[in-house]
Amino acid sequence: TVLIIDFGSQVTQLIARRVRETGVYCEIVPFQSAEEGFKRLNPKAVILSGSPASTLDAGSPRAPQAIFDSGLPIFGICYGQQTMCAQLGGKVESGHHREFGRAFLEVDKECALFEGIWPPGSRHQVWMSHGDRVTALPEGFEVVATSANAPYAFIADEKRKYYAVQFHPEVVHTPDGAKLIANFVHNVAGIKSDWTMSAYRAKAVEAIRKRVGEKKVICALSGGVDSSVAALLIHEAVGDQLTCILVDHGLMRKDEAKSVVAMFQEHYNLHLIHVDASDRFIGELEGVSDPETKRKIIGRLFIEVFEDEAKKLGGADFLAQGTLYPDVIESVSFTGGPSVTIKSHHNVGGLPERMNMQLVEPLRELFKDEVRVLGRELGLPESFIGRHPFPGPGLAIRCPGGITREKLEILREADAIYLDEIRKAGLYDAIWQAFAVLLPVQTVGVMGDGRTYEFVCALRAVTSVDGMTADFYHYDMEFLGRAATRIINEVRGINRVVYDVTSKPPGTIEWE
Ligand code: XMP
Repeated sequence: TVLIIDFGSQVTQLIARRVRETGVYCEIVPFQSAEEGFKRLNPKAVILSGSPASTLDAGSPRAPQAIFDSGLPIFGICYGQQTMCAQLGGKVESGHHREFGRAFLEVDKECALFEGIWPPGSRHQVWMSHGDRVTALPEGFEVVATSANAPYAFIADEKRKYYAVQFHPEVVHTPDGAKLIANFVHNVAGIKSDWTMSAYRAKAVEAIRKRVGEKKVICALSGGVDSSVAALLIHEAVGDQLTCILVDHGLMRKDEAKSVVAMFQEHYNLHLIHVDASDRFIGELEGVSDPETKRKIIGRLFIEVFEDEAKKLGGADFLAQGTLYPDVIESVSFTGGPSVTIKSHHNVGGLPERMNMQLVEPLRELFKDEVRVLGRELGLPESFIGRHPFPGPGLAIRCPGGITREKLEILREADAIYLDEIRKAGLYDAIWQAFAVLLPVQTVGVMGDGRTYEFVCALRAVTSVDGMTADFYHYDMEFLGRAATRIINEVRGINRVVYDVTSKPPGTIEWE
């Protein structure tokens, strides 16, 4: 295990990604609980992250002394470098100018981290982002690479296996960063690659069996990749002790519920209850147009329906959830204060307490791309694994204005044609998320010899890494023309199609 101590950098998660990619397990622990995390994890190496803080500020965070006393290899990144220097007897000063972005390093000396990639005399691109800088080295350290603005860009004490850099090796703009981290993990710390998904699968199945014993588990299955993989893993562990409940709120995509049922019930022989609750949901949503009200109604009904079904089963001791590692990592915040609610997200939070259930969260240690690998390992088809994200409140938030059954039906058809065209054009995997929105606006058109007065359909497609920011997808116009023509020709009720060219921010991905 590698311990990553988080001082609050925006990119700490990327350090964890890079370490996991070397086939080695790691965990991120906030600096406040680093001492405890160090004892609990018993790591073979430690990495110190960057931070928005300055080591020169009173009360700024430090790494626990125990890691320096342990004799373990340590890699300090950015703020991590500065706190290492401050704690080991070097000196840090505030920089004359802050340095952000691309820089080039000249390699001066050999270093264990450069093995096989950076010979002395070579030059390499790295990504800098810092204000302060080291101005005097602690005893035992020497400079191994420099940049024009950063004489201490890369320093090392090979005897103690301490390495520290002023740039960010974890970001893609440092092309060899992953190799530097791999050299630290494998060559310096001597950790072998044993974090594979088949090993994880076996370990997780064992752990679920131990925790659940003979008891019952229920799981809300949506067909999204997280809940699907969680359900399959638990099914492998405890078989029919698991019951999955698919709450069909009538707001799913065309044929979606059918394909989820076929997949899990027929193919995996998993105990799945398909609850058609569309009347209950749409009954309460009919005519509701305020986005937050829609979200709250759907969230409440979802919990009620799920609870009713669980009671029919005679209850359960455990609730399974597809919680991922990024949701678990305790965030380090220096600004404090609550953040503004942009949208009330739909999830099953609150259920375990209400129903007095314990949680099973077998994906808590995984990143999204690792969940996909695990899904493949469990035999889940690509059509499920590579699926675009779909929001819990479904088509209700893609139907601005009052909701009616008729509008949902029109939207479902248009959305299906749009996605069909995307797949045919081979664009599905290049797009992060794509969907149709039915606007509550009617416009005049002419079809054949007649006047039409029908709804406008907006098409949305974005690229993104994590849904936090997004850019609209740059289609070629031929494609958009083709999709628009098909939608207008084939869907009764739509006579105009527009394309949404808003990025996030300032827009959000969904319209509500
Ligand atoms: P926004 O619209 O906030 O969406 O830019 C970001 C991502 O989150 C999805 N989304 C949701 N997912 N429950 C979910 O599980 C929700 O209530 C919800 N609302 C939005 C959205 O589809 C996009 O991928």
